Amino acid sequence: MKIILLGPPGAGKGTQAEVISNKLKIPHISTGDMLRESIRNNTPLGKKAKKIMDSGKLVSDEIILGIIKERVSKEDCKTGFLFDGFPRTIGQADGLKNLNIDIDIVIEISLSDEVIISRMSGRRIHLSSGRSYHIEFNPPKVEGKDDLSGEDLIQREDDKPMTVLARLEVYKNQTDPLIDYYQQVEKKSDLKFVKVNGANPPEEVSNEIFSNIE
Ligand code: AP5
Repeated sequence: MKIILLGPPGAGKGTQAEVISNKLKIPHISTGDMLRESIRNNTPLGKKAKKIMDSGKLVSDEIILGIIKERVSKEDCKTGFLFDGFPRTIGQADGLKNLNIDIDIVIEISLSDEVIISRMSGRRIHLSSGRSYHIEFNPPKVEGKDDLSGEDLIQREDDKPMTVLARLEVYKNQTDPLIDYYQQVEKKSDLKFVKVNGANPPEEVSNEIFSNIE
């Protein structure tokens, strides 16, 4: 199955992506995690991406489509995959279409700005895996440590309040139009578009997603 998870920053895409990819046994492809890995490894891409990500803006379509093209050509993507945070612009969605990849389902996780802002301040992540926690709503078993590796959790640079506001603005201008884009595709193809309420507790959001997948 080929899935796109769409939604504003902090909607819970990463949280749900982990559950879905484990259950369906398909790779979780997060462009945000891939870019953060490049930053950690100090690659030329990472150096370029860091400034852009810290400001809340988007990395260019050309770079993102290059990363995606290479990733989906790998063996583990043969039976499907889940995109988290891609596509994020109409240009990226068109680029994906040009790769002749037929997406089965687009899942929009919706959430109000107020809840997004309150969630971001409590988010902690495990940098190398991308696993996401919340100090109140989804705490790790041991405070400050990743459940699986026991390594330290960190707060993301771009989770500072001013950057969160910039990311929300970018989402509204550049990513939100993809909702209409995929609703139009649904009318002309086998693609299914569903919207789930991201304000519910994580398990309820997962249940709502699976009721639409199975
Ligand atoms: P990216 O890493 O993709 O960030 P994002 O889309 O802004 O989304 P987030 O990771 O912030 O949130 P999420 O929806 O995954 O929420 P999460 O599950 O963590 O992108 C970062 C940057 O990289 C971009 O700004 C851009 O610069 C660049 N980039 C990436 N992809 C790009 C692309 N395609 N094109 C161009 N540039 C790109 O949950 C958030 C918090 O809430 C957590 O603490 C979690 O534990 C908690 N939580 C989750 N679900 C619930 C729930 N139901 N109830 C209560 N708490 C919950």
